[in-house]
Formats: sequence, C-alpha cells, structure tokens
Amino acid sequence: MGSEMCIRDRLNNAISEIIRWQTPLSHMRRTVINDTHIGEQAVKKGDKIVMWYYSGNRDERMFENADSIDITRANARNNISFGFGMHRCLGMRLAEMQMRVLWQEIMTRWQRIEIVGDVTRVESNFINGYESMPVRIVA
Ligand code: HEM
Repeated sequence: MGSEMCIRDRLNNAISEIIRWQTPLSHMRRTVINDTHIGEQAVKKGDKIVMWYYSGNRDERMFENADSIDITRANARNNISFGFGMHRCLGMRLAEMQMRVLWQEIMTRWQRIEIVGDVTRVESNFINGYESMPVRIVA
C-alpha cells in the first residue's frame, strides 16, 4: 500500500481486511451436477461439496500471516467472505457501505472501544458471530 493512499481508500481496505479475517459465514454448500475433478480430487454427480470460506480466507498461499489483521494488506479485497462466482453475495456492496458508514461515525465520535468482559461466540459451524461482547467506549 502506498503512503499516498487516502483515508477513504484506507478505510475501504480495512473493511475488506476485517471481513476477510472475521469471515461472518464459514461456508456454503454445492451439489455436483456432472462428474468432474476439483484440482486432483474426483467428484461425482450428486456429491455435496462444502466451500470453506473461512479456510480460504486464512490460506497462507494467498494471504501472508493470514491469522493477523493488517489493514494495509495489499490483497485484502481478494477475500472470499461474500463467496465467489455467479452466486456471489448480492448484498455485498450494501454490507460494505454499512460497515463504512459505521466506521466513519465511530471514528468521528470515539477514541477507542475496549473489550471489558467475557466474549461469547455464537455456537454454530455456519455463522461466525458473537452473542455478547461487553465493551467500554472511550469518547
Ligand atoms: C457482512 C454481510 C454479508 C455477508 C458476509 C454475506 C455473505 C454471503 C455469502 C457467503 C453468500 C453465498 C455466496 C455463494 O453461495 O457463493 C451470500 C449470498 C447472498 N447474499 Fe449475502 N452476505 C452479507 C450481506 C448481505 C446483504 C446485506 C444482502 C441483501 C441486502 C445479501 C444478500 C444475498 C443474496 C440474495 C445472496 C444469494 C445470491 C445467489 O445465490 O445468487 N447479503 N452472501
């Protein structure tokens, strides 16, 4: 990332990186319609295939230090949190806009947000979310 990058581009990149790292939906499933290969793996018509977005987003061949959040990551936009191909999320631009507006408003109001208690995760192998996260907002 060049140092000339403007705040707006930086924020957009940060949002892509956060959504890569978080991967709100862990996977989707497809049904194979013709016998074929995926890489070296043979698959047959009718087989069910799970696409682990969560795994792809942490693939070190694609994302160096994939477990770390780096808001200047050059290829953060290559995340697959919204899927890929013809069924790629129809609402991704709206979702990104919501995150952008949220962060713009947070940054104009508050210095920081601190986690001050136990964080509870949603118990699911599909939704990668949080049930509760007690925080303190520092204005
Ligand atoms: C952070 C928020 C969101 C995430 C992480 C997300 C993620 C996804 C994923 C992973 C898929 C599946 C892609 C596939 O099967 O290949 C999907 C599909 C879809 N999403 Fe989202 N989504 C989000 C927000 C939204 C919003 C706000 C809307 C609508 C306003 C929306 C509408 C849809 C629709 C209609 C599909 C089905 C597209 C198709 O099957 O052709 N999503 N989304």
